[in-house]
Amino acid sequence: MNSLFDTTEVTFTDFSGKERRVPFRIAGSGPPILFLHGFPLDSRMWEPLMARLQNKFRCIAPDLRGFGEASEENRSYQLDDVAQDLYHLIQAKGIQQKVTLCALSMGGYVAMRFVHQYPELVSRVILSNSRGNGDDAAGRKTRLDTAVRAIAGDPYDAVSPMYEKLLSERTRKGEPEICNLVQDMLRRARASSISWAQLAMAARPDSLVEMKEWSVPTLCVVGEQDPITPPEAARAMFEAVPQGALRIDPNSAHMTPLESPDWFAEQIANWPAVDGK
Ligand code: MLT
Repeated sequence: MNSLFDTTEVTFTDFSGKERRVPFRIAGSGPPILFLHGFPLDSRMWEPLMARLQNKFRCIAPDLRGFGEASEENRSYQLDDVAQDLYHLIQAKGIQQKVTLCALSMGGYVAMRFVHQYPELVSRVILSNSRGNGDDAAGRKTRLDTAVRAIAGDPYDAVSPMYEKLLSERTRKGEPEICNLVQDMLRRARASSISWAQLAMAARPDSLVEMKEWSVPTLCVVGEQDPITPPEAARAMFEAVPQGALRIDPNSAHMTPLESPDWFAEQIANWPAVDGK
């Protein structure tokens, strides 16, 4: 899949005094939507959706710390720091309006930290294939194993077992462009980026309790065949937030925005519905 939108970038001094660069893809005009990619992917995963939404929204898809065109990470960070990068991006772009966050999986964890820190900057949230609960001990151990495997061995070996879980069988058999893109993102993920992101995700708090206090409308989207963040995880977020809606796509696994972009774009365009759901 050729890239539809080139990256451009902003630079700023972050809250720790370090110069930081955030590359991003941008298209369209209208109310701003920030698209946050999953692990260990990059902003290219949002291009089919951006292509469908650019006539209604100003679509901005950053490469999160260490991924895509972002610089290699050489020190640990928290997901709250990544949320602060987004704050700086919004400031640097001079965005005055509240933003919609549309975020997949790890991007969703970052979106939760953004809502925690900057609730006044958010108009609504779309949590795609994500989960509100933190990791249990076994989950943290798996993350440590992945982090060590990426550093000590071959980074692709550490992340390639995800491939079969990211895409539904239908996509894996019938959509070679999507498969190639996902494989390319997995191959390009650097060892340090994999490891620091795994440690940041392992340290993230449980957000389900906080989500009960959210005052932003929240759309929870998931693929029926998602083995990583299954429909129960989306349902738990939907039940936690006061203004929630839930949509389940029968045709996708973990990469619903990439596997079912027409369906996904329709969910965004038609939400909130008249009854607010
Ligand atoms: C993702 O898709 O971003 C990751 O699978 C999330 C995770 O590891 O929890």
